[in-house]
Amino acid sequence: MNRSILQIEDNEANRTLVRRVLEARGYSVFDAEDGLSGIRKAQEIKPALILMDINIPGLDGYEAATRIKSIKELENTPIVAITASTMHGDRERCLSAGCIGYIQKPIDIKRFPEQIDEFLSGREESLSLEEERSHLKDYSHRLVTRLQEKVMSLEVKTQQLEAREKETEEIYLNVMASLTKAMEEKDSYTAGHSDRVTYYSVEIGKFMELGSDKIKVLTRAAKLHDIGKLVVDLSHINKPGKLDEEEWEQMRRHPEVGANILGPLGFLKEEVEIIRSHHERWDGTGYPNRVDGKKLNLLSCIVMAADSYDAMVSNRRYRARVSPKEAIAELERCKGSQYHPVVVDAFVEFMNRKGIDHREHLLLSAP
Ligand SMILES: [Fe+2]
Repeated sequence: MNRSILQIEDNEANRTLVRRVLEARGYSVFDAEDGLSGIRKAQEIKPALILMDINIPGLDGYEAATRIKSIKELENTPIVAITASTMHGDRERCLSAGCIGYIQKPIDIKRFPEQIDEFLSGREESLSLEEERSHLKDYSHRLVTRLQEKVMSLEVKTQQLEAREKETEEIYLNVMASLTKAMEEKDSYTAGHSDRVTYYSVEIGKFMELGSDKIKVLTRAAKLHDIGKLVVDLSHINKPGKLDEEEWEQMRRHPEVGANILGPLGFLKEEVEIIRSHHERWDGTGYPNRVDGKKLNLLSCIVMAADSYDAMVSNRRYRARVSPKEAIAELERCKGSQYHPVVVDAFVEFMNRKGIDHREHLLLSAP
């Protein structure tokens, strides 16, 4: 522990007295006779405490204390003022010059060593408090850094999880789409139907300027719209001739069955509703729930129009296909009864702009 004390005092008798008393107490005492040499000495020995006489030649004690406090390496060195002055306000001046205390001359020799001990122990206390504060600061800084690292690694993990979740979703979708496709491919009359319905739905959706989120939902719903037919007896669908009432009953189940197949996949909520209602009509006479057209999801109405159009321009075992022009005319004829008027308008406009019998995409592959 540093036990050196610098006394800045012009009176030799006083210096001798202080030195004798403090050395007897175990302190090392250094002297300076005026303010400037006192500052130099303080920089040289870096004492544990400075005793500053206020009435000294040259710089007075206040000025010397102020200058010492402005020196970086001495800013924490405690200074105790010693003065014979009893003028009102001296104590305040000492404190504002940076002194931690004030001893009145003549010095009470009996109390003096204890007073110095107290000033120094106060200093120790404040040093240890400062140390503790700095430890706490370091600790909280380390904590914040560790917390930031944890948050960052959590963010990375969340991103990885989200990416994995998306991958899993895509796998589910691909499996479901493959199943639907496989079912359609079993019959040359229905092969490629879902792909073509997806094509028309997406083109109409874009033509109607739907946002990318809606186009994504539309794509998924159109691809999977007939997935419920996996459970329906296909011989009904593909048999030559018209379906009887019982077979129709079976057929009408496929939207609901499709919705039930995909229902457990939470990320397909809107798609499930579109699939359930892709045979609902605008006038509320469709199946399975005879939903009023105005309550239908617009995307569902788009899938329905695209589905009907592709069915009309494709051959079936029980009937020949019609031309795109005739299919468009049929859509227009049933606008407002079977089909959503706005969707039909968009469909017709789109086909007119493309050329009504345009055969891009998979139309040519329809039998
Ligand atoms: Fe369908």
